Amino acid sequence: DKEEDLLDRAPIVTIMGHVDHGKTSLLDYIREANVTAGEAGGITQHIGAYDVTTKDNKRIAFLDTPGHEAFTAMRARGAKITDVVIIVVAADDNVMPQTKEAINHAQVAEVPIVIAINKIDKPNANADKIKEELSQMNVLVEDWGGKYQCQEVSAKTGQGVDELLEKVLLEAELLELKANPNKNAVGTVIEASLDKGRGYLSTVMVQGGTMRIGDVVLAGSHFGKVKAMYDHRGNRLKEVGPATPVQMLGLAGAPQAGDRFNVMDTDREAREIANKREQI
Ligand code: GTP
Ligand code: NA
Ligand code: MG
Repeated sequence: DKEEDLLDRAPIVTIMGHVDHGKTSLLDYIREANVTAGEAGGITQHIGAYDVTTKDNKRIAFLDTPGHEAFTAMRARGAKITDVVIIVVAADDNVMPQTKEAINHAQVAEVPIVIAINKIDKPNANADKIKEELSQMNVLVEDWGGKYQCQEVSAKTGQGVDELLEKVLLEAELLELKANPNKNAVGTVIEASLDKGRGYLSTVMVQGGTMRIGDVVLAGSHFGKVKAMYDHRGNRLKEVGPATPVQMLGLAGAPQAGDRFNVMDTDREAREIANKREQI
């Protein structure tokens, strides 16, 4: 992309951490507190990718990841398509194996980390103990003289959540994130499944360009024309720009989570590449 084609874009933020430390709860709270209610449509399934506009009118694309140990690949992938990682650690627990693994994935991907010490509402919460354990793996938080921004939060009461978002947005601003919206869309498949009656439903993160109804999409070894797009509330969308998660109907199969997707100029080009990939 040429410099003059690049416009500011929203950050893509992934929430990671050990199982049950409160990632989904935190995201639920953020969505409730910051999303203006839209009209609910047909799609109600949990997709784990959300588009949020904060009270200060800043847009953030969020990805949720499972903390269960079986999902290492998903956390590695999450770290790659993201601009900032929020590491959630429960204040009534410890820095656990998946906390460490998530931090390692983010560090390998050279993605800035913001620590959210969650469940601070609990009587047995001990944020200092968590900071101490983090320091033992060379993750020194800011108020202890380190470089990692850290915020105590409660996904239950909402305490500290606005401050956490401010810290995330601060990290994102330092990155001066840009994308070219005026080209064929490119991005990554988050997940895909068969929706009985409507066909294959793919959740994708558009990272560059703009995707429109009727575009020919190639994802992994599958291709098709975009028939419909929805946000996480089920609202129909006509076009989707950079740093936006979207649910899409129209592929002739389910691509793999983590597959790249591209909008192609012609059907024929998409078919040829898809066929080649299928033979591998
Ligand atoms: P996985 O996706 O399974 O890895 O879990 P998760 O990290 O998404 O955790 P989840 O949001 O499912 O929360 C796990 C449990 O902790 C639930 O029972 C939540 O209600 C509870 N919980 C989450 N955040 C808080 C919090 O801030 N305070 C309290 N008291 N409970 C919380
Ligand atoms: Na859970
Ligand atoms: Mg969860």
